[in-house]
Amino acid sequence: MLEERENRSPTWQRFAEGHRRLTPPLSPSAGDVETARRAIAEAGPRVVLFGMTPALAGLGEDLTAFDHSQDVIDTVWPGDGAARRAVLADWLSLGEEVGRFDAALGDGALNSVGAALPEMMGVVARLLRPGGVAALRVFAAPEEPETPDDIRRDVLGGWTGNLHALRWRLGMALAADRPGRVLPVREIVAAFDALFPDRETLAAATGWSRSEIDAVDLTRDADYALAFPPVSTFADLARRHFAEVRVVEAGGYPLAARCPTLLLRR
Ligand SMILES: C[S@@+](CC[C@H](N)C(=O)[O-])C[C@H]1O[C@@H](n2cnc3c(N)ncnc32)[C@H](O)[C@@H]1O
Repeated sequence: MLEERENRSPTWQRFAEGHRRLTPPLSPSAGDVETARRAIAEAGPRVVLFGMTPALAGLGEDLTAFDHSQDVIDTVWPGDGAARRAVLADWLSLGEEVGRFDAALGDGALNSVGAALPEMMGVVARLLRPGGVAALRVFAAPEEPETPDDIRRDVLGGWTGNLHALRWRLGMALAADRPGRVLPVREIVAAFDALFPDRETLAAATGWSRSEIDAVDLTRDADYALAFPPVSTFADLARRHFAEVRVVEAGGYPLAARCPTLLLRR
């Protein structure tokens, strides 16, 4: 059981508040959901979902979603029913669930555990029965890192992304020289402030509204770190635990090429 202080973390409270406004690349597109649906279609009824991603909550006949934030469960989860339920738990301590599931789903879950990414890959595998499958969308840095200045020039020069895609591009660039490619999220906001001190100039160059741009402030005090490795690292980690590893990309939204789904079979 989680302590009250852990499951009421202000960071995830703020994530819950902002969740309604999430769009791809931060939430999955219809194409990403279809990729996941197809991947697990033949696996069996028992599905584990890491996080509360509403677009994935309707998949599977018997889905259990785990999240460590009661606020996210209360705000984001579309509600328990005959085919699904939300459970408050830390993914890294799901020790007794070994082999209980036919399929696993997650949207950015592997990035969300920061330095525990290698351990998390093992958790996903352990929860699945032999032959079970996982469909996990990831945020994967380019193999050749960008610099924050490259990104600034591109964005002010007419790049047609969105605010979330910009945040992730910055996160990937800043994480490139960190151990394990792990970056405290608040550093993304600090870099954003330094690169784009005048939000009106950014709004004029991109066509983004001030309310879209100001959403960057929701993660100003975030107290967690994200892992942003390249897709080759995700695939190498997956091969330690899974017999089959494939990477597919749905496309059709800003930064989609860096948001592929890992399709894994134990
Ligand atoms: C899976 S990610 C990304 C969310 C996603 N892209 C979406 O569309 O909702 C964020 C979620 O993971 C949860 N989370 C992060 N680390 C966790 C952990 N170690 N155990 C359980 N939940 C965790 C957070 O509370 C948050 O709800």
